[in-house]
Amino acid sequence: MQAEGTAVVTGASRGIGRAVALELAVRGFDVVATMRRPEMGAELVEEVAATGGALRVERLDVADPDSIHLPDQMRVLVNNAALEREHPSFEATPMELWRDMFETNVFGLIDVSRQAIPGLRRAGGGVLCNISSSSLFAPVPFLAPYRSSKAAISTIGESLRAELAPFGVRVLEILPGPIDTDMLAGSAKAPEAIDDPDYRAMAERYFEGRRAIEGQVTSSADAATAIVDAILDDDAPLRVGCDPMAIAMLDAWRTTPDEDLMRAILPTWTG
Ligand SMILES: NC(=O)c1ccc[n+]([C@@H]2O[C@H](COP(=O)([O-])OP(=O)(O)OC[C@H]3O[C@@H](n4cnc5c(N)ncnc54)[C@H](OP(=O)(O)O)[C@@H]3O)[C@@H](O)[C@H]2O)c1
Repeated sequence: MQAEGTAVVTGASRGIGRAVALELAVRGFDVVATMRRPEMGAELVEEVAATGGALRVERLDVADPDSIHLPDQMRVLVNNAALEREHPSFEATPMELWRDMFETNVFGLIDVSRQAIPGLRRAGGGVLCNISSSSLFAPVPFLAPYRSSKAAISTIGESLRAELAPFGVRVLEILPGPIDTDMLAGSAKAPEAIDDPDYRAMAERYFEGRRAIEGQVTSSADAATAIVDAILDDDAPLRVGCDPMAIAMLDAWRTTPDEDLMRAILPTWTG
């Protein structure tokens, strides 16, 4: 597709969402950078203005239906906003954590998407891009709420890829690996499950694995370049990695039977 028309990004106050909003504007889209606290977008507006690009900030909390107002027509929607939370064992995870996670990561994305689709159709087609996670490729313990929220949007994207194809709306799923953002920084600690003696050994192995990715982190600017490349590429597959680790995991997932992958990875956690 050509880089023209309106592009909307959710969760553009920081991290990957901010970098994608900036990159879309630099490439030529008229960007609506949405966020819960619009004051966080002031510097982004200045940064884009300095490049000669067009970007405005609007308030949108994906978990607050009353705040969802979208342009009449848009060529691109990037569903980026999401939460990560604590990592106790499954049995110790309170229902409130599950509900918060699904309210933002799943129901928020659904609500924004259902309100955006008429605008994408009115524009004559475009791209609906969901940001999920490469954690979907591995049976990571203590991550069930986050991973299952991302799995939900992954299957939503599959159905929408079919449903919206006749209207020229291409659905894309980006599965980031470790990207240098606040969310990744927040995960640089032992999971809460380590406090439970029954789960301690596995939690220690998890933390060891988390430390091992430190040298393999990609900047949000590089991830945004890859994401916008995929948005513009009419031949891009449904699922795209935006960093070397995610691309390698996606390749392994595509070429290895799932049970073989499961058998290979499980000992990482079970010892
Ligand atoms: N970084 C990684 O390594 C990584 C890996 C895999 C997948 N991802 C995915 O990539 C996306 C971006 O993550 P990130 O690393 O950039 O995270 P981040 O630094 O934590 O930023 C998250 C963004 O989502 C926004 N947000 C959260 N709840 C929201 C809500 N209810 N309504 C609107 N915005 C909301 C935050 O806004 P506030 O500023 O208001 O909190 C912030 O702008 C997420 O979908 C995440 O799951 C990231």
